[in-house]
Amino acid sequence: MNATSLTAVIMAAGKSTRMKSRLPKPLHPLCGKPLLSYLLDACNAAGVSRTIVVVGHEAQRVQEAFQGQCDFALQAEQLGTGHAVMSAMPLLDGYTGDLLILPGDTPLIDGNTLRQLVDHHRNTGAVATLLSAVLPHDAGMYGRVLRAEDGRVVGIVEAKDATAQQLAIREINTSIYCFQAPVLFEALQQVRPDNAQGEYYLTDVIALLTRAGTPVEAVIADDWQVTLGVNTRVELADVAARLRWRILERLMLSGVTIVDPANTYVDADVQIGQDTTVYPNTYILGSTVIGEECEIGPMARIENSHIGHRTRVLASQVVESRLGDDVRVGPFANLRPGTVVGHHSKIGDFVEVKNAIIEENVSMAHLTYVGDAHVGANSNIGAGTITCNYDGKRKHRTVIGKGCFIGSHATLIAPVQIGDGAYVAAASAITDDVPPDALAIARCRQVVKEEWAKRRREQSSSGGDA
Ligand code: UD1
Ligand code: CA
Repeated sequence: MNATSLTAVIMAAGKSTRMKSRLPKPLHPLCGKPLLSYLLDACNAAGVSRTIVVVGHEAQRVQEAFQGQCDFALQAEQLGTGHAVMSAMPLLDGYTGDLLILPGDTPLIDGNTLRQLVDHHRNTGAVATLLSAVLPHDAGMYGRVLRAEDGRVVGIVEAKDATAQQLAIREINTSIYCFQAPVLFEALQQVRPDNAQGEYYLTDVIALLTRAGTPVEAVIADDWQVTLGVNTRVELADVAARLRWRILERLMLSGVTIVDPANTYVDADVQIGQDTTVYPNTYILGSTVIGEECEIGPMARIENSHIGHRTRVLASQVVESRLGDDVRVGPFANLRPGTVVGHHSKIGDFVEVKNAIIEENVSMAHLTYVGDAHVGANSNIGAGTITCNYDGKRKHRTVIGKGCFIGSHATLIAPVQIGDGAYVAAASAITDDVPPDALAIARCRQVVKEEWAKRRREQSSSGGDA
């Protein structure tokens, strides 16, 4: 490790009291990913070579969620942000490079802003540089940046410890800093918990350094929004709305039409191809990838799925499934995990598919359940067809060959196979395999009783028994 290496310490050990949640704050979901993962992404984008996350409250859960993505330092007791950074010191023994310090709860921060901070820190040769932001409104509970008359930063005051005059300041401490590691470690030894919260404040380091004659640099973030912190669920919703807009903006600029961004929910890692249109009230979640020229929604929910080109999904749910090109889904279809649909196939209204491969050019247009099945290319599955995959104990497979015609309201009792090109008569209950090119009929023959209804009517009008 040399003097130009960059290590990040993310403080994520706090109790997140203000969230009022059993789930630790770093794990709260935000556009499909845990909150803390956004900070790890930003550090990676800024060129950080090692990231240490300080964990404490629910340490094990947080550590399990991010195992392999960073190193961990334990802050067994949460005595403040200064104490949190001190807890990482044993992992940084002998480290003399720059330290980027971040809170674990500012998920909108991006690699560029961090890079600007680090570049300024290095270009000016500063020992400490803080990232501040000027809010367009009252700064609420953020720490305020105190400057001398000549503009030099002289300290940070927490809102809880501030005077009315200091509270009027709109330049806030983002809790993101760059320090020469040895200088920070030395200053931290001098921090005392003599404040409204009785905590070891990292913020006190700034005044300690400037009082000792060490100038502290400040970089004001170009966009104050990237510095917003999440302390309550109100702030979580606010940050989520901004993040959603950022995601949708990126997609729109890359050639995706989002008809109504205010009513479209796309997770951070979703990919959507050019000239696809997303209609309102649609959720595209997780690791979903959608091709070009598709039409998605209105009212679609697609999760962790892969969709080809020119496919349409209308008012339907698609979860952990793969759809080919030119597929039609919905309205009101439910594609459950393990569904694979080939090119040009149609899955219509009130069709549920689960753990099934539907090859190309298959039509199952209405009111069908296909589970644990394989349907060959060019087959037609009539309305109301049901694969009876469950015998009360175990699941069994239904295999339908290529070019089959399954009549309406067929009941296929698995395990069962329908050979290529076979027909199943409507309303049949199929218990035995059907050979290729055969016709299977499994239902009672129709009986017609001439004049039966007329006789019944006449009997009841003459008072006799029916
Ligand atoms: C902190 C800053 C404040 C700044 C704001 C920006 C201090 C004293 N205050 O306030 O100046 O404007 O961030 O968002 O630093 N943490 C630990 N261990 C602890 C305490 C906290 O790891 O003992 C972690 C928390 O999990 C959190 C981060 O440090 O991720 C910041 O703590 P938080 O309590 O949210 O500080 P703020 O009140 O937001
Ligand atoms: Ca905070």
